[in-house]
Amino acid sequence: MASDATVDSGKRRFLLTATSVVGGIGVVAAATPFVMSFWPSERAKAAGAPVEVDISKVEPGQKINVEWRGKVCWILNRTPEMVSNLPKLDERLLDPKSLTDQQPAYCRNEHRSIKDDMWVAVGICTHLGCSPTFRPEIAPADLGPDWLGGFFCPCHQSKFDLAGRVYKGVPAPLNLVIPPHHYASDTMVVIGEDPKA
Ligand code: FES
Repeated sequence: MASDATVDSGKRRFLLTATSVVGGIGVVAAATPFVMSFWPSERAKAAGAPVEVDISKVEPGQKINVEWRGKVCWILNRTPEMVSNLPKLDERLLDPKSLTDQQPAYCRNEHRSIKDDMWVAVGICTHLGCSPTFRPEIAPADLGPDWLGGFFCPCHQSKFDLAGRVYKGVPAPLNLVIPPHHYASDTMVVIGEDPKA
């Protein structure tokens, strides 16, 4: 069971603390994704294992970061307002129906998730691999009056909505990746394992 995934409070770029993987091997903090060479061997062994995450304390509107296969994954508990805003953005998105295979088939829907509210994604920009910033605010000054919440990549200004769907006219060519996952219970999500596994 994951014990202490990091809460992302908004503009702060992700800070990965600790979670645990099936098999009970702890995960050490990493300030930058994609750097695996210095990891201890136990961790390398655990790199392919599914990750169980306790989501019972993830409040509506909150995002936590966990690690799976050396990648930061986000779990966002979307509010009803966030969910209801998703269809409003379709015309501004490159692949609003998620036709490109960036998600399992069971997440090819408007919300790109199994549950309407809870959303799981790999937090890596599909342009050159930076970590987009969680920007849930409505119409912040720097993102404009049409911004309904989403993710902003500071490296080259790509934008994604709160389902990880990429905007048109930005460098990122694809929606964010949704990893295989399923819910072991109402409060436990397993990342890295398909529902029927
Ligand atoms: S890496 Fe995200 S926009 Fe370039």
